[in-house]
Amino acid sequence: MINSLVTGGAGFIGSHLTRKLLSLGHNVIILDNLSGGLFENIPKGAVFVRGDIQDRYCVRGLFEANKFDYVYHLAAYAAEGLSHYIRRFNYHNNVIGSINIINDCIRYKVKRLIYTSSIAVYGHLSSFSFTEDSMVRPIDPYGIAKLAVEQDIHAAHEMFGLEYTIFRPHNVYGEYQNIGDRYRNVVGIFMNQIMKTGVLTIFGDGSQTRAFSYVGDIIDPIANCISYERAKNDIFNIGGNYSYSVLDLAHTLIKMTDKKGIRSSGIVFLPVRKEVLDARAYHDKVRVVFGNLPSTPLEEGLAKMWKWAEKEGPKETPKFKDIELTEGLPEIWVKGE
Ligand SMILES: NC(=O)c1ccc[n+]([C@@H]2O[C@H](COP(=O)([O-])OP(=O)(O)OC[C@H]3O[C@@H](n4cnc5c(N)ncnc54)[C@H](O)[C@@H]3O)[C@@H](O)[C@H]2O)c1
Repeated sequence: MINSLVTGGAGFIGSHLTRKLLSLGHNVIILDNLSGGLFENIPKGAVFVRGDIQDRYCVRGLFEANKFDYVYHLAAYAAEGLSHYIRRFNYHNNVIGSINIINDCIRYKVKRLIYTSSIAVYGHLSSFSFTEDSMVRPIDPYGIAKLAVEQDIHAAHEMFGLEYTIFRPHNVYGEYQNIGDRYRNVVGIFMNQIMKTGVLTIFGDGSQTRAFSYVGDIIDPIANCISYERAKNDIFNIGGNYSYSVLDLAHTLIKMTDKKGIRSSGIVFLPVRKEVLDARAYHDKVRVVFGNLPSTPLEEGLAKMWKWAEKEGPKETPKFKDIELTEGLPEIWVKGE
């Protein structure tokens, strides 16, 4: 039996991954503090441990008690835009927490650490398609944290022989995503807004583009990479191949949900914020190693997610409790829905 740890397994991508690993016969233990994930997301068959990756004693105890073969490390708070305003929390949670996991992967001789980094490591404010060899120059603390962890994993490999596979997904959407997080996941935010007020909010004019990626298209390579020799100690972009503007996304969703009898009353444009304008990546490398991967058309993926979201119903959008800097914090994050 393969023993796997999934950190962040109560979250969006982590719960899909856990389901996949269970179907492959892994024994899965989830470590999650439920800060972003939900207990209801946890797939039947997984063992759930509520704990924080920042707590090194909790992490150490878990590694001590279980002989993990593989560690899939997904736990993080991935609110890229908000990360400017929660810098200390971002680095503690996403870097120090990850270092606790890396230390114990070394200490307990885990066979491979699989890490979900992000396209945010590339940064760049101008239009660009990234290959894994593109220059990395993150423009926000979230991206900096992801890059720091990637680099630490690389150093741990060089120094201690820790084997790893790193994935850099981007703009993933789908069922089980937290649509009540007001700071992240534009697809989920739009769906929640459609259900709550019918008014969609967009930063700037909506011309910023994203290659939205359906979650079902990225899970298999992440789960199965442990069987691929060529995926060892390497980094892969993974996700959608086609870019859409945020405005296009809004129109597509309005049209799609109108068809189902819910009328969205429109779009409100908010002051522009500093963010990557066009985020897309090449996926030649992941295809060379894993073969052709599914590429769910946007409308199809959105329809699947909407079906699920409608059933779930609208969600509250609580504010982050401990914002560290308020200078330039977007108004919509200060008040209102
Ligand atoms: N969703 C995307 O578009 C996307 C894109 C690129 C990379 N990623 C990365 O993929 C991973 C999963 O993202 P997601 O979208 O599923 O987010 P998510 O918020 O749904 O899942 C993250 C999970 O980690 C848990 N968590 C956070 N901090 C923790 C801590 N200190 N200790 C224990 N658990 C903690 C949360 O409760 C949550 O269940 C993250 O590392 C994220 O950075 C996501």
